[in-house]
Amino acid sequence: MKVVAVLGSPHKDGPSNVIAREVLRGAKDAGHEVVEYVINDMNVKGCQGCGACKQNKIDCVLQDDLAPYWKDLHECGALLVAAPNYCSQINGPMITYMNRHYCLITSEGVRVHPGIKLIGVFSQGAKDNYEAAEKAYDWYLRDFQNRDMKLHAKLVHTGKDAWDADSDIMKKAYEAGRTL
Ligand SMILES: Cc1cc2nc3c(=O)[nH]c(=O)nc-3n(C[C@H](O)[C@H](O)[C@H](O)COP(=O)(O)O)c2cc1C
Repeated sequence: MKVVAVLGSPHKDGPSNVIAREVLRGAKDAGHEVVEYVINDMNVKGCQGCGACKQNKIDCVLQDDLAPYWKDLHECGALLVAAPNYCSQINGPMITYMNRHYCLITSEGVRVHPGIKLIGVFSQGAKDNYEAAEKAYDWYLRDFQNRDMKLHAKLVHTGKDAWDADSDIMKKAYEAGRTL
């Protein structure tokens, strides 16, 4: 199956990207095809609230670098979203990306096939989990779950966690991909 990964960090080799790519390594080992979108390298506009998607029951009409994503999303069996924590929230560009999924809900219901397996990878500087951050991660994933996606794995890297090749979180990441 196709696995779509959307990587939100500006740090190419930071923890959220490295852990996400370990999930993707597991997915490739399991025989899946991976398509990557690196949001920091893309021109992604915010939802314009134009209503074209709702009126016509179609994918977002904006012609920016997210335009090819919708076909991949409709074809995929899994979606991985990875983001750093900025100011106790998901970083801004990933919220901008998430807002664009407004087009997937119409008066007749959800417009993407149900059961896409969802994986969230998040990284924060704080050494311990804290309420505002956990709420932000869950709020973010819920927007995708509201589009009938099913949570497969949520991986949270904190400032106290190692993320070298032998670390616990990297092992969990590989398993999350391999078991897709
Ligand atoms: C603008 C900014 C705001 C941040 N705010 C928080 C925060 O509120 N809580 C936190 O735990 N870490 C915060 N951090 C730290 C990052 O979440 C942390 O460095 C994370 O590991 C970055 O992951 P990445 O390298 O994969 O992007 C912030 C970093 C930046 C640059």
